[in-house]
Amino acid sequence: MTTVAAIARPNLALVKYWGKSSTQHNLPATPSIGITLDGLRSRVELSAGNRAGEDRIVVDGVEQDPHRFTPFFDILRERANTAVAFHLTGSNDYPAAAGLASSAAGFAAAALAGTRLLGLDDSPSAVSSLARMGSASAARSAYGGFCLLKRDAESAVPLYDKDWWPELKLLVAVVSPGKKAVSSRKAMEQSRLTSPYYRAWVDSAPGIAADAKEALGSRNLEALGACMRRSYLGMFATIYTADPPVFYWLPGSVAVIRRCEELRQEGVAAWETMDAGPQVKILTLETELPRVRKAIESLGVCTSLLFSDIGDGPRIVDEM
Ligand code: PMV
Repeated sequence: MTTVAAIARPNLALVKYWGKSSTQHNLPATPSIGITLDGLRSRVELSAGNRAGEDRIVVDGVEQDPHRFTPFFDILRERANTAVAFHLTGSNDYPAAAGLASSAAGFAAAALAGTRLLGLDDSPSAVSSLARMGSASAARSAYGGFCLLKRDAESAVPLYDKDWWPELKLLVAVVSPGKKAVSSRKAMEQSRLTSPYYRAWVDSAPGIAADAKEALGSRNLEALGACMRRSYLGMFATIYTADPPVFYWLPGSVAVIRRCEELRQEGVAAWETMDAGPQVKILTLETELPRVRKAIESLGVCTSLLFSDIGDGPRIVDEM
């Protein structure tokens, strides 16, 4: 076997990871709780060749800087005690590097493909810890359903499978599909190193995660939504007070956030969250989805709306 293809899905944090407790080992400073999205898909084909060459990475037809992938491939080489070079071809069926967690899905797919290619332990926990070296949120994409990545943890742990809360639906308001100017990796380091509120954010995160876990356990969207807001707004407080700050939000993002607030006042469950990009992700219930969709569509600020259920973890799709 020389090439393995795997698919994985992005994992959306309801409670955010933002900041590292170790940059060398890429360990998260805050606990995060995420859902794996059924509606979006990343595919990776991975092959290994002679180490004489460098690692080569092409995503959506564009050659990538291999340095971003070196820590991930180095761990793979170390675990297999080999000196091969890797060739990775990735593709996404949704806009990449636009705050839709394409790196989480890509690294989870690459971790599963890599472990299979080299005959390593391909259990979700082993895939999760390997994926984390590429992007810490990718540790969560190694699982389907709902999962938790604890502070300082090497792997995520599953909380509930994808059928835990079937009424839960996600709508992604794509405000701008363009690539973000500043990567989450860079922005979170800037927050850690320069924001006067970073410490407060890290200290408040475990309490938010504990409350969210409880709300998830009792399928209480109002309580979960309140945790989601505390989490993303706390995260953005550090981003906007970093030096220099990074302005991920666009006017359209604010319009969607305000509309969600109005919907809640009208008694409709529409709880938003955001990541390192302008898109707004809205958690709602199946019965409310048509009303939320109409309300967001009629704002006229979105280039597209994506819909998603909770999905499965990564899987191998081809071995050649
Ligand atoms: O894993 P990274 O380096 O792509 O950072 C992810 C950061 C957020 O998406 C903003 C939050 C999260 O927990 O996914």
